Amino acid sequence: MRVLVIGSGAREHALVEALRRDPGVSAICAAPGNPGIAQHAEVRAVDPCSGPEVVALARDFAADLVVIGPEVPLVLGIADAVRAAGIACFGPSADAARIEGSKAFAKDVMAAAGVRTAHSEIVDHPGELDAALDRFGPTWVVKDDGLAAGKGVVVTADRSAARDHGAELLEQGHPVLLESFLDGPEVSLFCLVDGETVVPLLPAQDHKRVGEGDTGPNTGGMGAYTPLPWLPESTVAEIVTDIVEPVAAELVRRGVPFSGLLYAGLAIGQAGPAVVEFNCRFGDPETQAVLALLDSPLGALLHATATGTLDQAEPPRWRDGAAITVVLAAENYPAHPRKGDLITGTEAAEPNTEVLHAGTALREDGALISAGGRVLNVVATGADLAEARAHAYDRIERIKLPGSHFRGDIALAAVEDRISVPTRA
Ligand code: GLY
Repeated sequence: MRVLVIGSGAREHALVEALRRDPGVSAICAAPGNPGIAQHAEVRAVDPCSGPEVVALARDFAADLVVIGPEVPLVLGIADAVRAAGIACFGPSADAARIEGSKAFAKDVMAAAGVRTAHSEIVDHPGELDAALDRFGPTWVVKDDGLAAGKGVVVTADRSAARDHGAELLEQGHPVLLESFLDGPEVSLFCLVDGETVVPLLPAQDHKRVGEGDTGPNTGGMGAYTPLPWLPESTVAEIVTDIVEPVAAELVRRGVPFSGLLYAGLAIGQAGPAVVEFNCRFGDPETQAVLALLDSPLGALLHATATGTLDQAEPPRWRDGAAITVVLAAENYPAHPRKGDLITGTEAAEPNTEVLHAGTALREDGALISAGGRVLNVVATGADLAEARAHAYDRIERIKLPGSHFRGDIALAAVEDRISVPTRA
């Protein structure tokens, strides 16, 4: 099978590495890819948001399967364009991708499916903001009602900080979504979904704030780990049965069946799991950790999803142990990341660790430089989370990028047994 992966981040690098481990995959191309991916796969410079460009490349590469990583091309209908060209595509239609692209649509689907989620209101005009804030908080959850890669979210107990963020979004012409705060530890559950067939992957936890101890502004994600030793064993099945399957069925009922990866972001509170958000694609950086433990051929699972045969596919198998991803971010990330700095120390291959590229580029002289906010990911596995952490931090310490930073506490609360699921009310 020849596979074309669309995207350029560490998530796509992880997808490429997992596809390389699949003996059924004979060739991989990534577009636009990145310098890390280019070490082991062909890369082509196409615009991931151009249907004609992606289709032309898929034909030229003779792709049997196109895998679309990021949400923006999905929301823009690139999966529809690929399927219309007669090529199998892993990724939902534009209509189904509204589960991420339109928070109002997602709330409506969840209400119809009877799924527990935060109460919310959309504010379109600055004059409505104060009264709306009075109906929420504390704690206030203020979101950009569009695609903002995690960075448009402010969660705060400070009303004036909530107001400032809402006012700034409105000034930029973005509607604001206010939500009630959901308590409890967060879980990212990725499910392969093909119509009403739902196959969960391992649950993971992201670390969204930039600073240790969950301080500072939200980011696209500073690190993740899997599995979750604190999550009761029955919870994944409960999320599938009570949340993901009803949502998948509701999308089928509306004539917009989902095909691809449905990512449920959840808070596990006193009343049980509740949805914080749905995304229409693999999460970043959780995917990097989840795929590090996948023992099944990834290409076969994605192809079965894309061709409507997921119900006949062998369920995913997982390696024992644990995996973590630690993100190396550029100076001033997430506000104004500095770019163009020299990176060294990525080359050495070591057992149990991988260095994945997220925001890198090659200078004219061939040197590796930073080119984004999240620059690299170190992914490590171990017999348990403590060992995986030790491998990851040992490896990341030896990468040099001026001004860069990473969180030293990825998975630490889980290792120290400081996370617990509230007792059911
Ligand atoms: N892990 C956050 C996201 O992928 O949106």
